[in-house]
Amino acid sequence: MQDVQAIVDRALAEFGRASDPAALENAKARYLGKNGELTAGLKSLAALAPEARRSAGAAINAAKQAIEDALEARRAALAHERMQARLAQEAFDVTLPGRGRGRGGVHPVIRTWQRVEALFRTIGFDVADGPEIETDWFNFTALNQPENHPARSMHDTFYVEGHDAAGMPLLLRTHTSPMQVRYARMHSAPIKVIAPGRTYRVDSDATHSPMFHQVEGLWIDEDVSFADLKGVYTDFLHRFFETEALEVRFRPSFFPFTEPSAEIDMRFASGPLKGRWLEISGSGQVHPNVVRNFGLDPERYIGFAFGSGLERLTMLRYGIDDLRLFFDGDLRFLSQFA
Ligand code: PHE
Repeated sequence: MQDVQAIVDRALAEFGRASDPAALENAKARYLGKNGELTAGLKSLAALAPEARRSAGAAINAAKQAIEDALEARRAALAHERMQARLAQEAFDVTLPGRGRGRGGVHPVIRTWQRVEALFRTIGFDVADGPEIETDWFNFTALNQPENHPARSMHDTFYVEGHDAAGMPLLLRTHTSPMQVRYARMHSAPIKVIAPGRTYRVDSDATHSPMFHQVEGLWIDEDVSFADLKGVYTDFLHRFFETEALEVRFRPSFFPFTEPSAEIDMRFASGPLKGRWLEISGSGQVHPNVVRNFGLDPERYIGFAFGSGLERLTMLRYGIDDLRLFFDGDLRFLSQFA
């Protein structure tokens, strides 16, 4: 039998060189396995005299113990190394500043909304806000829109179940015009107000969304004329688009709540939209029946109203051709306005 200490030394050296668990287990088999060197030593004990057998047996057991201890230690060391390597690989610098929440921005349509408010405030218009769930009476009846008007069909309007306190049917307002009546009934003449807000119609394509924004304008006094409408609105467009190089035209139209009524069209003198007439707003002189519903005498009070789409104004200002982009929530689009 070989010198037991030499076997132990070799085993320890070999374990030390094993650089992964598989190599270590192979090395273990060479010493402690069925055909391992120590096992061979144990077998050879049988040939010894009892005295010698006892001391050789003790030496082999001590050697076996030493090798098993070394094996355990090396296993633990390899596992530790492995863990350290993984920690190093997956390390991150906890002292780096966080990613943060990113900087938010104002939605382009809301930018327009704020801009319109600011521009009209400078010429003395008040700004009012009203309910999006509206009664049938304010949305249609009070605006001289008869019972059988096509806009009142289920096809065009989102009706809401239930009624208001007075038993009036409810709907999502189809325009901001009911704010004319609400505001006028709560204030005394002269009345000079804009009412921006959300509106709803059963409509959905590249230029229509079931939810969209309008701004209503109303100016009522004893002598407000169509010429004032032209002046106020043309001035607004010049300031909104930051150019006087645009033409404005009033094209005869029809709304139940104005008489006469006009579509307001505009045309840029330069830029990508140059030369094309673009429809921008409905407008007209407020109908006497509506003035009466304001609680005012139509023989004394007269004025104009307009209702413009905020998406439309935004699209023209920034050159956006698909209205759905406003409501997709895609940051690639929205961050351009932040
Ligand atoms: N309410 C009309 C619409 O939504 C627009 C409008 C407002 C027209 C005020 C005339 C006067 O189409």
